[in-house]
Amino acid sequence: MRLKSLHHVKFQVNDLATTEKFAQDFGLITVEICPDRLIMRTNGGDSYAYVAERGDAAVFTGFAFEVESEADLEEAVRVHKASPIRTLDMPGGGKAVTLTDPNGIAVDLIHGVARIPPGEAYAPLMLNSPLNYVREGRFEPKRPLGPAKLFRIGHVGLFIPSFMATLPWYVDVLGLIPSDVYHLPGQPGIRIVGFLRLNRGEELVDHHCVALMQSRGGETACHHISFEAQDFEAQFMSHRYLESKGYELVWGVGRHPHGSHVFDVWRDPDRNRFETFTDTDRLRASDGTRVHGIHEVEMDVWSSDPPDRYFA
Ligand SMILES: [Fe+2]
Repeated sequence: MRLKSLHHVKFQVNDLATTEKFAQDFGLITVEICPDRLIMRTNGGDSYAYVAERGDAAVFTGFAFEVESEADLEEAVRVHKASPIRTLDMPGGGKAVTLTDPNGIAVDLIHGVARIPPGEAYAPLMLNSPLNYVREGRFEPKRPLGPAKLFRIGHVGLFIPSFMATLPWYVDVLGLIPSDVYHLPGQPGIRIVGFLRLNRGEELVDHHCVALMQSRGGETACHHISFEAQDFEAQFMSHRYLESKGYELVWGVGRHPHGSHVFDVWRDPDRNRFETFTDTDRLRASDGTRVHGIHEVEMDVWSSDPPDRYFA
């Protein structure tokens, strides 16, 4: 199977209206809201990237990858025991199958979902530096304070009970490649965290589309979902905007040393973590895997250790 990209995430939430308000302030755009379902997209041309259904419990209900062809869906059914191919009742149409990871997480594969024209971006940042003053003789305009323009969903972080028992499925079935993997102190064979990227051969892809993190209490859950903003200027301004609206900050703005991306993480009304990212490393399939002791790794090169609330 040839995965093209992460396509969307799905949640069940307590109240669609408060979820929509937060998500709009975060930067997502409403495609459809009805009593039972909220569908939202980014500014980057996807038909949708986030789906919420109303329910009594707030739970993560899965995520989806776009695949290269319908033959990939047929292969998923034939080789990996995916559910039968179904037609999607969603914006942009298309077809899908559902796989289930070793922890019971639903992973959909979809094909044939139409895209829409992307929205406008801000003028690219031009940064003056002592090595190269690129802006000369002009007063630089500032962007308006408001929700971030988001361009695509980039990755999901998952809490899983056992990294070692989960990793083979993501490698063997989805074909993902570990970028950075972390082991327990002094025990290189016992790995507990990993960032996995798509296998697109020599095409460049994000450092990770899935992060697998072994949970302390054995639970399976979504740790965070992450959308690409235009640049770190957009993230700092989004941070200030979300703060002005009284939302709960988790962690940021910071920069991860592995993957290099600038991150900013907030909580939605159901306490799900929503992240913006920019400036991630882009790798080929041939760029390999790094292995680290988890105790040797900083998580933010700009400031602090991760707050307990990042993992709680
Ligand atoms: Fe992330």
